[in-house]
Parts: sequence; C-alpha cells; structure tokens
Amino acid sequence: MLFQIAIDGPSGAGKSTIAKAVASRLGITYVDTGALYRTVGYYVRSKGVDPKDAPAVTALLPEIRVDLDYIDGVQVVLLNGENLGDRIRTPEISMYASAVSAIPAVRAFLLDTQRDIAKKRSVIMDGRDIGTVILPNAQVKIFLTASDECRATRRYEELKAKGIETTVEEVLSDMRKRDHDDSTRAVAPAVAAPDAVLFDNSWMKPDECTEAVLQQIILPKLGLTV
Ligand code: DC
Repeated sequence: MLFQIAIDGPSGAGKSTIAKAVASRLGITYVDTGALYRTVGYYVRSKGVDPKDAPAVTALLPEIRVDLDYIDGVQVVLLNGENLGDRIRTPEISMYASAVSAIPAVRAFLLDTQRDIAKKRSVIMDGRDIGTVILPNAQVKIFLTASDECRATRRYEELKAKGIETTVEEVLSDMRKRDHDDSTRAVAPAVAAPDAVLFDNSWMKPDECTEAVLQQIILPKLGLTV
C-alpha cells in the first residue's frame, strides 16, 4: 500500500525540514513541490517576461520541460535537462515562483508531475495545495504554521547560510507579501484542507517538531509505530 502525506502551509513554516526528516524516518520519498514553481519562475525570468503576465507566461510553457528526479534519495528538478541547484532559491525567484503559481495554466502544467510521483511511491509532499488539490485523498494532511517573526527568522538564517545577503525585516516583508498573494489567489489558494490537522510550531526546534508531528499526527493516522 502506498502512503500519501500532505504538508501545506506558508513559507518558512518548516515544511521542508519536517518533511525531509519524516521521509527518512519512514523510508518514503520527499517531494518539494515549491521547487517546480521556482523552476518555472526561473525560466520566465531568464526570458525577461513579466511573471504576472498570464498570456505571456502561458505562451512560454511549451518551451519548458520540468522533470523530477532523485539522486541518492535527494530530489533534483531539471529544467530542460539542467539541474539548477540553488539558483532557484534566491528571494527574487521566490517572488517569480509565487507570481507564476497564480496562473491556472502553470498549475495545470505541473499537476501530472506531482500526481505521477505519488502513483509510483509512498510520498510526503509539501506545498500549498497538496491536501486540497494534488492529493485530496492523502491519508494524512497537515497544515503547518508558525508566527510571522519566527518564519522570517528561519528564512533569514537559511538564506544567510547560502551566502544570500538580506535582513530579517526584508525577509519578513517579502514573506508577508508572498503569503498574502499565495493565500488569496483565485486558483488553488494556500489554505488548509477541511480535514487537515493544524500544527503551529513557532519556536519549536526542528527535532522536537518532527517528533511531535510523527507521534501525534502521522503514525496514529497511518496506524504505524516506528
Ligand atoms: O514552498 P516554496 O517557498 O518553495 O514555494 C514557492 C512558491 O511556489 C510559493 O510562494 C507558492 C508556490 N507554490 C504553490 O503555489 N503551490 C505549491 N504546491 C508549492 C508552491
């Protein structure tokens, strides 16, 4: 039997950290769906196209091939065969990803890539619409949140570790704009599924949060013990 675990929530809520740790504990595949939108955003930027210009972005889609692959268990997203690595992780590409993700044609373009992987393997998938749209029948749905200040501090630390210069204030203001846009867009807004378990992990350490999410939500729902 294949497991589907959906983790949605705003940026910096700790989704990827928790999902990666849970994936390794359960021996299942972690799927970072934000990387797919980031990859489309990267291509749109490389063509000098306004990411809010839906017809122009839609016209670029036939030129884009986005593939999900796993190398030593780690997800790699390929843009027309090229692994972009951390080039999709900059604050500018975050904004491009958020803008293109509001375009219905972009969401439709990435839908099968996400669903196909969950047909072949047990997955823990993180994003914004996993529990509502991509995997509506997931056995476990979690909506992970944390306070704005906490999320901005985490994002800032992540960017700093990657050598990207910014400030907590700048990250907080970008993050609020992106969360607002992501949760109020017309198509697949970033909202909790009615059957999702809400979990606020403000100022919890990653290990503590992983343990709590596993023991209190995931294992009981899957009827497992590890
Ligand atoms: O999770 P992330 O920060 O890497 O996501 C980048 C953007 O992609 C985010 O601002 C909204 C969009 N996104 C989405 O609309 N749906 C998803 N399932 C994942 C990400």
